[in-house]
Amino acid sequence: MAGGQLPVVNRAAGEKPGLRVTISAVYVSRESSVLIELAPSILSADFAHLADEVTLAVEGGATLLHVDVMDGHFVPNITIGPPVVASLRKATELPLDVHLMIENPDQYVPAFADAGADWISVHQEATRHLNRSLSLVRQHGCKAGVVINPATPVQTLGEVLDMVDFVLVMSVNPGFGGQKFIPGSVEKIRKLATMRNAKGATFRIEVDGGIALDTIGDVVRAGAEILVAGNAVFGRGNPRENAEKLLKAAHEATLQKV
Ligand code: DX5
Ligand code: ZN
Repeated sequence: MAGGQLPVVNRAAGEKPGLRVTISAVYVSRESSVLIELAPSILSADFAHLADEVTLAVEGGATLLHVDVMDGHFVPNITIGPPVVASLRKATELPLDVHLMIENPDQYVPAFADAGADWISVHQEATRHLNRSLSLVRQHGCKAGVVINPATPVQTLGEVLDMVDFVLVMSVNPGFGGQKFIPGSVEKIRKLATMRNAKGATFRIEVDGGIALDTIGDVVRAGAEILVAGNAVFGRGNPRENAEKLLKAAHEATLQKV
């Protein structure tokens, strides 16, 4: 159906000294109202000017900040830990979406929650007791998400779909920004949306990896609602304009949904 009667909603989210925050989001109508959000991944930002880069992305409509945590074991790269999350917490009022690409996530969930994470996602492949890990995230007052790598079938999530706030579908192999989108991810998103309908579940669908102007339409039409983008926001040009263009493309895709 052609939805989208409420194209863009802007609301002031309060002000902090030296930081003007405007939150924008795109609401679309499918079977019911769906909120499409852009979650810039700071992995591709200039860390020496992180707060400024984030402010620009927020001015462009970002409503969530995606924070990639890598340990050099689960993925072949090392990034940041709780101190950076704590600093971001002071610099923005946006919810912090902390994507744990680490072994033994249970060991670190409390530290990230204490640092100010709002959403925490753990990889299905990184924890032996997924149910326990997701419960732990919720016990610490955060929204709980489960992540699947490109080679992991969505069917492996059947037993946890009623206990997550969101499912993150990796559309690249985790570890690095700026990789090429894996097209099979679109079908996984579609399957997940179908499973959600069948179960009457309420989790949201997030997608991460290679999201740019040429891929965002396909994932939105398939059912993705939270769109992570690193390189496409911070890689080149102005993060504000980049974010605006991505959200515009996402909205246009919702109008094409049949
Ligand atoms: C990859 C990370 C992503 C990454 C996305 O392991 O989980 O969040 O930053 O970057 P782009 O959008 O550049 O593919
Ligand atoms: Zn990520």
